[in-house]
Amino acid sequence: MTSQTYLSELFSLDDRTAVVTGGSSGIGKAIAGALARAGASVVIVARKEAELAATVDELTADGCRAAWVSADLSTRGGVRAAAEQAAGVFGEPDILVNSAGINLRPPMSELGDEVWDTTMAVNLEAPHLLGQRFGPGMAERGFGRIIHITSQQAHRAFVQSGAYGVSKGALEALARSQAEAWSPHGVTCNTLVPGFVMTPLNARLSSDPDKVAALAARTMVGRNGLAEDFAGAAVFLAGRASAYVTGQAIFVDGGFSVH
Ligand SMILES: NC(=O)c1ccc[n+]([C@@H]2O[C@H](COP(=O)([O-])OP(=O)(O)OC[C@H]3O[C@@H](n4cnc5c(N)ncnc54)[C@H](OP(=O)(O)O)[C@@H]3O)[C@@H](O)[C@H]2O)c1
Repeated sequence: MTSQTYLSELFSLDDRTAVVTGGSSGIGKAIAGALARAGASVVIVARKEAELAATVDELTADGCRAAWVSADLSTRGGVRAAAEQAAGVFGEPDILVNSAGINLRPPMSELGDEVWDTTMAVNLEAPHLLGQRFGPGMAERGFGRIIHITSQQAHRAFVQSGAYGVSKGALEALARSQAEAWSPHGVTCNTLVPGFVMTPLNARLSSDPDKVAALAARTMVGRNGLAEDFAGAAVFLAGRASAYVTGQAIFVDGGFSVH
């Protein structure tokens, strides 16, 4: 057996279909690219059409199969419509990645209903509804992979965690509930836990060089995260090799959480 064949058996996503929310930017974009380059047909879901189209163009120019669906995941109707449209492109997904997320960060005393509701809708309810839509089908077919992107704020307070940290803590609990329900049928459900990653989500913090350097110093690797750091872990969690890994939170944070 060649090393290529061996690696393919472990990690190839050929003939798999994937839906990646937030696949037009940051961590979700890097994961969508990684799954597509590993062989999956990938549908990315977000709101802004220009970013979606540009991402899909990049992937198809690279020989990948990719498509986009524009949807607002902050409403139940938006999530349900997005799920139907996404499944209509390459078929029911084998892999669901929930990377769409928002972090609005008002001071706790000023945290109002609107920020709370929107945060819970996008960061927690959309992943739940997409799981309800796709999880049972994956279980019936005997294979599925659900991957959520949470945050160190699921585990500790950090820069006004507010509603955001609560949504991410609950998302890790959701992954465990989904894992309990569907792992007996070949569907693993896990979360990837970033530390501080230089993406548009963090534009304000990233523009302060002193804060950026201080955060890098809190890692063991000595630098902040890049979206590309999530590619390998996502391919692993999406493929055959991770069949016995479920209900887990896997930190991709350069050692931030253990320093
Ligand atoms: N960057 C970090 O340091 C960090 C740390 C911990 C956790 N995370 C988590 O990692 C995930 C990805 O974050 P990122 O840093 O890659 O952020 P990002 O670059 O801002 O990307 C967020 C993505 O979510 C989409 N999105 C936001 N609101 C949406 C809505 N209502 N409906 C549909 N799509 C929506 C955005 O597209 P549109 O705006 O076009 O809709 C975009 O594609 C998030 O869940 C975030 O909480 C990030």
